Amino acid sequence: MEWFDLTVKDVKKVTKEATSVTLSIPDSIKNSFSWQPGQHIQLELTIDGERTRRCYSISSTWGQALTFTVKKIQGGKASTYINERLKADDLIKVTAPKGRFTLTPNSETRRSYYFFAAGSGITPIYSMLTTLLPNEPDSFAYLLYSNKDSKSTIFAEELVHLQKKYSDRLIIKHCHSSPGWFDDAPWRKGRIDTDAVHAFINECPPYAQDAQYYLCGPGSFIPDLKKALNEIDVPNTRIHMESFGGAKTPEKPTGDKAILNVNFNGEKHQIPVASNQSLLRAMLAEGIEAPYSCEGGVCGTCRCFLTKGEVSMQNNLVLDETDIKKGIILACQAIPQSKDIEIKYKT
Ligand code: FES
Repeated sequence: MEWFDLTVKDVKKVTKEATSVTLSIPDSIKNSFSWQPGQHIQLELTIDGERTRRCYSISSTWGQALTFTVKKIQGGKASTYINERLKADDLIKVTAPKGRFTLTPNSETRRSYYFFAAGSGITPIYSMLTTLLPNEPDSFAYLLYSNKDSKSTIFAEELVHLQKKYSDRLIIKHCHSSPGWFDDAPWRKGRIDTDAVHAFINECPPYAQDAQYYLCGPGSFIPDLKKALNEIDVPNTRIHMESFGGAKTPEKPTGDKAILNVNFNGEKHQIPVASNQSLLRAMLAEGIEAPYSCEGGVCGTCRCFLTKGEVSMQNNLVLDETDIKKGIILACQAIPQSKDIEIKYKT
């Protein structure tokens, strides 16, 4: 994985608990930093002498300066640092944008797009919306967005402006789990659940037959919404998902160890894996820069081939039966079930 030292161009508060950070990209590396709406970058921060890596989605419109937006998580080292200490002109280590959760507009296409976002799940979806609407003039977009209240809603004002600008092709509805006294009444009180998904689609039926569904949120948001969509016969091929802070395996390895043999970037490694540890976490602990993003079994970035041994996968929202028959596994979700395991990455 290649790391670039980039300068922070601007830091801007977007809510009390969320900050947008814009990076300066020198012309010499512009090609490496071309990106599509929905993709993310990985950051390496050294906070009080300790190295921390995190993935953040790009929130800016395609073609504009690369900006990512970070919500402060209670106890979150990196998100607290970005929200409280990062400033313009700081230097940070960043990887080139990547990720399969993308939307590339096509001016000839006529589609209905349904977006479902919870909390900072809006960040890649905001990038998609602001790129899609001007560049795909015959398509229609519907956004269902869940937050605690109005004050904690990232891009609240920007979304109002977007809705006014594209009032004939954009519908936005909000769910607030704990609306404030002075908030405008949300579309629904509570989180986005199966009922809310079905009611939303009922109220906003597809304008064009070709409908695509984009989901981004934490933890069980993705599997719950995917199930809700499947219940109304939305096929998986039309559902695109990105998760964050998902079902990760414990960072503290305990229990009996298996041995993992992995050939990565032409180098052979033999490393121990604890019985409660994912293959990905074991590799990262040994300094192997294996690819990953959501660490929740959603994005598929960590896919690799199991060539020997057995693993069980905790969460899998991306591989189908055919992938599994081919031996493909998600390293972030794979827990050892035999003593001797071997995997390989496709080169
Ligand atoms: S990192 Fe996303 S599925 Fe493993």
